[in-house]
Amino acid sequence: MPVESEFEPPHAEPSPRPQRVEPHPRATPTRHVAATSPPPATLFDDSGEFEPPLPLEERVTRLHALQAEVAGCRLCPQLAATRTQTVFGEGSPTARLMFIGEAPGADEDRTGRPFVGRAGILLTDMITKGMGLAREDVYIANILKSRPPDNRNPEPEEVEHCLPYLERQIAIIQPAFICLLGRIACESLLRTKLPMAKLRGKWHRLRGIPTVVTYHPAYLLRNPPAKKDTWEDLQMLMAAMGLRPPRRGGD
Ligand code: URA
Ligand code: URA
Repeated sequence: MPVESEFEPPHAEPSPRPQRVEPHPRATPTRHVAATSPPPATLFDDSGEFEPPLPLEERVTRLHALQAEVAGCRLCPQLAATRTQTVFGEGSPTARLMFIGEAPGADEDRTGRPFVGRAGILLTDMITKGMGLAREDVYIANILKSRPPDNRNPEPEEVEHCLPYLERQIAIIQPAFICLLGRIACESLLRTKLPMAKLRGKWHRLRGIPTVVTYHPAYLLRNPPAKKDTWEDLQMLMAAMGLRPPRRGGD
């Protein structure tokens, strides 16, 4: 594994006191609030109410059906013509935490799995070494399910075509927390053009779900000094989730 893709939490920093924050179903929506814990949740901020959480088997069945639908999608003719396969997303159907990236790259297009290339190795390090979770315990998805040719940015129309699939994934899984990775995920879901630096370090909400924003792992590979900001973002998330950084070997 290339050394620069390692995500090592700074050694001596203790995490903020763990704080478990349960969404409150009837509170007033608050957006873009700087805070160390999420603002109160509402079921009615963006696009209506979720169904009650589904049992595991029902989630699995619905995710499989949705995956098949996505695999046959031809709404974006260019993407459908150039992709090897769609990349639906993967992880636990009962994940408390969902990561949302931008779009599959070459490695993802080849394997059909999200975040398996260099950026994916860094994301996996963030999840495992940084947060002390298993990659299988979270859910990892993208805004676009098809690779844009030459990794160009998604077109707005492509985002609009693909977002309903992601929204259905979110509604099936109903994660307690969401982490948006990079500018495209932020612009697409938070509907803002504010720069990442203004969006990170605060809590947002997506359909009532407390949401944090951090830099895309591909950006971190190009700009390693920004890893310390991402570590702060992950610590804010971990504090709200009641997680402590993993113990390093030997201490
Ligand atoms: N970058 C992304 O945004 N998503 C992937 O799945 C891989 C790289
Ligand atoms: N610009 C991006 O596109 N993504 C980031 O994560 C940061 C800056």
